[in-house]
Amino acid sequence: MKIFIDGANVEDVRYYQKLGFVDGVTTNPSIIAKTGQPIEAVIAALCGVTDGPVSAEVISTEAKGMIAEGQKLARLASNVVIKVPLTAEGLQACYALRQDNIDVNVTLCFSAAQALLAAKAGATFVSPFVGRLDDISQDGLALISEICLIFEQYPALNTEVLVASIRSPQQVVAAAKMGAHIATLPAKVLAQMLQHPLTEKGIEQFLSDWKNVSSDL
Ligand code: E4P
Repeated sequence: MKIFIDGANVEDVRYYQKLGFVDGVTTNPSIIAKTGQPIEAVIAALCGVTDGPVSAEVISTEAKGMIAEGQKLARLASNVVIKVPLTAEGLQACYALRQDNIDVNVTLCFSAAQALLAAKAGATFVSPFVGRLDDISQDGLALISEICLIFEQYPALNTEVLVASIRSPQQVVAAAKMGAHIATLPAKVLAQMLQHPLTEKGIEQFLSDWKNVSSDL
């Protein structure tokens, strides 16, 4: 499973890359707004620290505007992926951008039917949102299972399932068991994945037992 960082912090990306974890980055308008910087500067900086796909989301709601924004953002770096919403206009923009060989991430996917249409429109990635479905008492992971099952029936489909809106390590593990291609997670969840209290306790115990051993190490 590939792991993307869902965020705009260059230092997080740099740090987790050193551990070999980061295969790409996703952002959205809320994430970019929090940085207080222009989207072009944020995306260029992220592309400067990773060769993996970096998703930059359009804010137009009509296909024409999305295509123009997408073409502009795609010129920032060769690894920029254009994120469009899962609407008729978004899918029209997806189809047009893909004709231009620009990678597209279709976001805000909340049903298997929507995911299938994103794949038909040639999406490079489709992003179903787990946490936001759970927030309204619907089963976010059940959606991932359904989409993975459908995509498995059609090996010629090139669209990758990018599990988004992840809130816990358990969700990542469950999505991996289902065969989802990618999980995008906030740096906080990535840090939580790494930790286990028995690992810390084990190190303490080993160091304490080692105290009276004479060694050249
Ligand atoms: C993914 O690309 C989205 O940016 C993100 O996962 C949304 O997560 P949220 O529901 O926690 O805002």
